[in-house]
Amino acid sequence: MAKREDQPSGIGAGSLHGAEDGTGGGSANVLRAVRPRRNRRADWARRLVRETVLTPNDLIWPLFVVAGSGVREPVESMPGVVRHSVDEAVKAVAEAASLGIPAVALFPYTDPGLRDETGSQALNSDNLVCQACRAVKDKVPDIGIVTDVALDPYTSHGHDGLLENGRILNDETVEILVEQSLVQVRAGADIIAPSDMMDGRVGAIREALEAEGLIDTQIMAYTAKYASGFYGPFRDAVGSSVTLSGDKRTYQMDYGNSDEAIREAELDIAEGADMIMVKPGMPYLDVLQRLKSAFGMPTYAYQVSGEYAMLSAAFERGWLDRDRCVLEALSAFKRAGADGVLTYFAIEAAKTLNAT
Ligand code: PBG
Repeated sequence: MAKREDQPSGIGAGSLHGAEDGTGGGSANVLRAVRPRRNRRADWARRLVRETVLTPNDLIWPLFVVAGSGVREPVESMPGVVRHSVDEAVKAVAEAASLGIPAVALFPYTDPGLRDETGSQALNSDNLVCQACRAVKDKVPDIGIVTDVALDPYTSHGHDGLLENGRILNDETVEILVEQSLVQVRAGADIIAPSDMMDGRVGAIREALEAEGLIDTQIMAYTAKYASGFYGPFRDAVGSSVTLSGDKRTYQMDYGNSDEAIREAELDIAEGADMIMVKPGMPYLDVLQRLKSAFGMPTYAYQVSGEYAMLSAAFERGWLDRDRCVLEALSAFKRAGADGVLTYFAIEAAKTLNAT
């Protein structure tokens, strides 16, 4: 820096396009000119130097399932997203498969009358998620099915675990989550995704799967799941915004922390996770990048409901260009190190990508 300041100002300014050390004078500056724009000047050149490429293979599509048949029920806070009855879900998943999307993630809207203190519907082998798993496996066998392990769509209090005197019980909840996982795998789930953030759940689920001989089931751990305001529209979709009492800060992570995400990842990997995830997505790209570079695991980002709502609201107002911003946002996850993204934009993004 001191050296640079000693130089005549003309060379200092010229060094932007020329020799970094300022030696050699004017003609050397021209010969050695560094012009980053050369690689951007034509479409073919940009394609040649592009580092990150998004394809439909990078997308996991979360979809909501509701009772009934022929139902496609809009979720108000997520324009364009619907709750599907199982028959409609099968059609939607078939479309996802035809677009090249490798996996879908299923989330149930449970009838309020079926919700109780302990979330017992989570263990019903004929619950909506299990019905959807069986139907999808039957009709669309070549797509991967991810199922959410947590109690919040099933409990009358909207929490992911058992609630006792205002506290969420850890180990008692884990026992139920293990059963929930087995029920889902028997119905056809390929990837179990515990989103509950109880301690030790990945290891307990892995142990039970091995004990049952279910050795091929993958576990995608919601490793760094933050207590976030961005889940609001999802809770509308699964009906837990009305049931939820209080918040989830005693089990989901504090958004001030990122070393803690490293510790969570160490645990999940040691306990047998095959894939790890960071959630929400765009406000947590730093965490994603840290986890990918620290562990080199298959690492996923969840572009959550609030991110979808935020972008969709701007698209509706004409404030942002839909096609451009969807692909730009999804590509950012890959650039930061994600191997894939759970996104409500999966169908339209896959269509756009397939068309170009
Ligand atoms: C439930 C669960 C949530 C999401 C995925 N699984 C909500 C929550 O923890 O309250 C959020 C997904 C989204 O916002 O899109 N355990």
